[in-house]
This record gives sequence, C-alpha cells and structure tokens, in this order.
Amino acid sequence: MILSGKTKLAGVMGWPVAHSRSPRLQGYWIEHHGLDAAYVPLPVHPDNFKSALHALRDLGFRGVNITVPHKEAALAACDDVDAQARRIAAVNTITFQDGRILGGNSDAFGFLENLRQEAPQWKPGAGPALVLGAGGAARAVVAALLDSGVPQVRIANRTLERAQQLANDFGPSCAAVPWGDRTGGLADTMLLVNATSLGMTGQAALEINIDALPPAALVTDIVYTPLETPLLAVARACGNTVVDGLGMLLHQARPGFEAWFGVAPAVTPALRQFVLAE
Ligand code: ATR
Repeated sequence: MILSGKTKLAGVMGWPVAHSRSPRLQGYWIEHHGLDAAYVPLPVHPDNFKSALHALRDLGFRGVNITVPHKEAALAACDDVDAQARRIAAVNTITFQDGRILGGNSDAFGFLENLRQEAPQWKPGAGPALVLGAGGAARAVVAALLDSGVPQVRIANRTLERAQQLANDFGPSCAAVPWGDRTGGLADTMLLVNATSLGMTGQAALEINIDALPPAALVTDIVYTPLETPLLAVARACGNTVVDGLGMLLHQARPGFEAWFGVAPAVTPALRQFVLAE
C-alpha cells in the first residue's frame, strides 16, 4: 500500500476494535478498486469518544464506522442524524462534510440487502416475521422488515419489557411475545430471525423447536461465528432456506465506502472468502 499526500482516510471506532473485520473488508475494496485510500482500526475508550470523533473531523478523515460500544454515543455526538439512524436509535456510519458530523445507520440496509442477494425468492409480504431479541441489532432488523413490507413483526425477548418497548416504538405492525411463547406463532411465520447473541461461539445455545415452522419460511441469523449456527443447521435439515449473518456485515459496509471514497462496492463470493480467511 503506497499512500500519497491526498490519501482519503476512514476507519472504525470501537472499544475494543481488534476483532473488527471492517478494516479487512474495506481494505479489500480499496485494493480491488485501486484507490488512494486507507481504512484503519481506531481503538477509542468510551471516555474519549467525542474528543476522538472531533479529532478525526479536524484531521480531514472522510468518515468512520462506529461499532460497539459507541453506536448510541455517536447518535448524540453528530451534528445531524438521518431518519433511519434516529429510528434505530444508533449510528454506525459517519461522514464528515464541510466540518459537520453526519450520522447514519446502514444495519437495516445491510440486513435487507443480504436477504435480497442470498434469498431472492423471499417475498416480504408473504406473512409475519418472528424476531428473537430486542437489543440494538434487533432494532435494525425490525426497521428493515417494516421498510420491506412485512405485514407483522413479532418480537420475542428474554426481557419482555425490552420487546414491548421496541414494539411500541415501531407501531401497530409489531407485537411483543414473551420468551417462553416464542414457538407459539411459528405456524404462520414466514421469516425467522435470530437477533440475539445466542448461538455465537462462546455464548449459550439458542433453544427453539422449529418443527411448526412452514417449510417455505426463510430462516436467518445475525450471528456469523460460526457461519452455520445451530439454528441454521436445524432449519436447513428441515428443508427451510437459510441465510447466514456474514452478508449483513458485508452489505452494511457499502454505504460508508461509497460516501467516503466515491465508488459503489459490490459484495461478491471472493469478498466473502477473503473476509472468512482472516
Ligand atoms: P445487540 O446490540 O448486539 O443486539 P444487546 O443489546 O446486548 O446487543 O442484545 C443482546 C440480545 O440477546 C438481547 O435481546 C438479549 O436479551 P435481553 O434483552 O433479555 O438481555 C439477548 N440475549 C442475550 N443472552 C441471552 C440469553 N442467555 N437468553 C435469551 N436471550 C439472550
């Protein structure tokens, strides 16, 4: 990598950030398109988030991605936040423009683009969706599903109050379901999404019996370590179409890259392999 005096700079702010796959992913696109650009990991302690963000603006960075635990702090630190980020109550993509800090959220976009690419036959209007989880990731998933025209979104969460809050925030097409009743409405569910951390390497298993799920339903997981989660393995064995969570990560990166570097990147099998080979 040879940098010039005009190199366009971007990065990812997180704490910790060493596990982030974004530098490898964005770096692949920079190289693929032969750009004079760099994308770097930026470990920033929460106490220093705002001052670090201002410093990046003053240093002439094009923008940054924001990851755990800064996504909510970023919402408050931006000069302007777009409607989707406000709705999801988190910012994951920042662009510096004429000295202003502009916040957006591409997680809902990434979730939907992944489904569109990997399961083009999926019809959002076909029936209700069941979302497991009510954290930040679930919020983006619910936004995406409503935007795409899913008629009803059921949200099951261990802490029922969080599911109720999420359902209230997103309106009458959403309903909260107690965690213990998560399999109750499966018979007409056409999309099942795990948006909890359950099933991730090192975390507890996701316990759900999907026998009642129609074979035509789509099953997806936001967890991508392992790529084939136990939920996806069981669903595949039942004959359901399954989509893994890596694509959401890859697609959510597209809007930032395009805004900062002026090129629309593509999510390809070669990119997937490159990111997985880390
Ligand atoms: P994120 O922003 O990545 O979604 P989060 O806000 O910590 O992270 O949310 C994690 C989700 O996984 C939550 O829905 C959480 O349920 P609670 O709201 O009850 O905490 C869910 N989760 C984590 N561990 C769980 C477990 N052992 N059983 C059931 N749900 C769990």
